[in-house]
Amino acid sequence: MTKRIGVLTSGGDCSGLNAAIRAITIHATQHYGWEVFGILKGTSGLIRRPMEYIKLDLSNCDQTMLRSAGTILGSTTKENPFYFPSENGQKIDRSGDAISGYHQLKLDAIIAIGGDGSMRINSSLAKKGDINLVCIPKTIDNDLAQTDFSIGYNTAVSVATEALDRLQPTAASHQRVMILEVMGRDAGHIALSAGIAGGADVILIPEIPYELGAICDHIQKITSSGRNFSLIIVSEAVKTESGNAVLRGTSYNDRPRYGGISQYLCTELEERIKADTRFTVLGHVQRGGQPNAQDRIIATAFGVKAVDLVAAKTFGEMVVWRNNQVESVPIDSTIDTYNAVDPHGMLIKTAKAMGIYVGKL
Ligand code: F6P
Repeated sequence: MTKRIGVLTSGGDCSGLNAAIRAITIHATQHYGWEVFGILKGTSGLIRRPMEYIKLDLSNCDQTMLRSAGTILGSTTKENPFYFPSENGQKIDRSGDAISGYHQLKLDAIIAIGGDGSMRINSSLAKKGDINLVCIPKTIDNDLAQTDFSIGYNTAVSVATEALDRLQPTAASHQRVMILEVMGRDAGHIALSAGIAGGADVILIPEIPYELGAICDHIQKITSSGRNFSLIIVSEAVKTESGNAVLRGTSYNDRPRYGGISQYLCTELEERIKADTRFTVLGHVQRGGQPNAQDRIIATAFGVKAVDLVAAKTFGEMVVWRNNQVESVPIDSTIDTYNAVDPHGMLIKTAKAMGIYVGKL
């Protein structure tokens, strides 16, 4: 019997999702002879009636998928099937509809590409509804445990590095302190890696507290050494010196919406060091654009491995990238552990050795 598998992307998008969808489709159709259905807008495509899905095959999964950002399947961050928005604004449990959608489509398995929130939701659905599930990790935050990389992270680091590359000449031309705010939610991976790659003088991440006075001393030392500009990179979830989170708008899905720490730092530093200071909030630029080569490779290898796991009937697993190998681990082992930056890890040591201020250690 020909197997029928579903693929969905859920949670915030990032670069490399289409490369994973392409790999799944090619490997499943060409190697195994299966049918592949792309479920639209995460699990919402299984909930709505008529169901929303497309057939995936070589005709809609060519090489352009390697280069394109976003997800051809669409995604959602606000339609948790256990807490689904109804027309009257109330949240109701529609998990039963998602489960019956899976069975009505006669799917043998679903490959879900998502971050930590999506892993939780899809794993609960699978347990409740007898769904054969394999997950692929994606998030620019790189905060999922067990895997060295999630899809989208490497591209986000490249984008943030390029932003520092572009800020440096204008900082030098105008003798300014430039502050770049990057995403990453509660993990400082993007700021730390891009900060090292882009030559930041100060890297501030949520995992390590800092002192404004120490940042000022550091910048003044750079100025007295004869350099007339400085670069600072800060993670969006870094708090004010007194420990308050800097938030933008209302939170949703029990998650704060960060934004504005670079503006706070700009005001505080400008006053203290009397230097011309500017801030840039990079925002969603980090999630779009062409995936870099590393993300295309990781996404392709993840897609192939996920299909092989379905073939081997090894369900309830998430594929992971470790030491240049693709393996798999139980989804549940990734859900309860948060992958934050290790304040005593190799990259922090590297940054310190390069004379970068990384906070109060
Ligand atoms: O989790 C990915 C991420 O881009 C975070 O880095 C950021 O805090 C958040 O999503 C932004 O979410 P939204 O797209 O809902 O504004």
